[in-house]
Amino acid sequence: AFVVTDNCVRCKYTDCVDVCPVDDCFREGENFLVIDPETCIDCSLCVPECPAEAIFAVDDVPEDQREYIALNAELAKQWPGINSAKDPLDGADDWVDVPDKLQYLVR
Ligand code: SF4
Ligand code: F3S
Repeated sequence: AFVVTDNCVRCKYTDCVDVCPVDDCFREGENFLVIDPETCIDCSLCVPECPAEAIFAVDDVPEDQREYIALNAELAKQWPGINSAKDPLDGADDWVDVPDKLQYLVR
């Protein structure tokens, strides 16, 4: 499966959602999206769409972000699906590329 990681937090650009061919594969929280690992078909279409470069194949998730693998699986079970893009969060362009945003994740 593919995994949404730290750089999505507080940005949530949502460009990823429009290209995903799987209904409800992306799941939406207040300031982060996750991918449901049980429905992701590994097509990789979402990866180049993310302006924050926050999406990785599970085997390529950077070492310091491995906790996001379990987090995507866990939150995908709790959050509703999102199937079309919307405006990014206010301040997204200021928060993109700020490191260690897990502390801000609203769950
Ligand atoms: Fe959707 Fe494909 Fe990205 Fe998986 S890899 S989340 S199926 S666009
Ligand atoms: Fe997040 Fe990138 Fe999608 S910032 S909402 S993973 S386009």
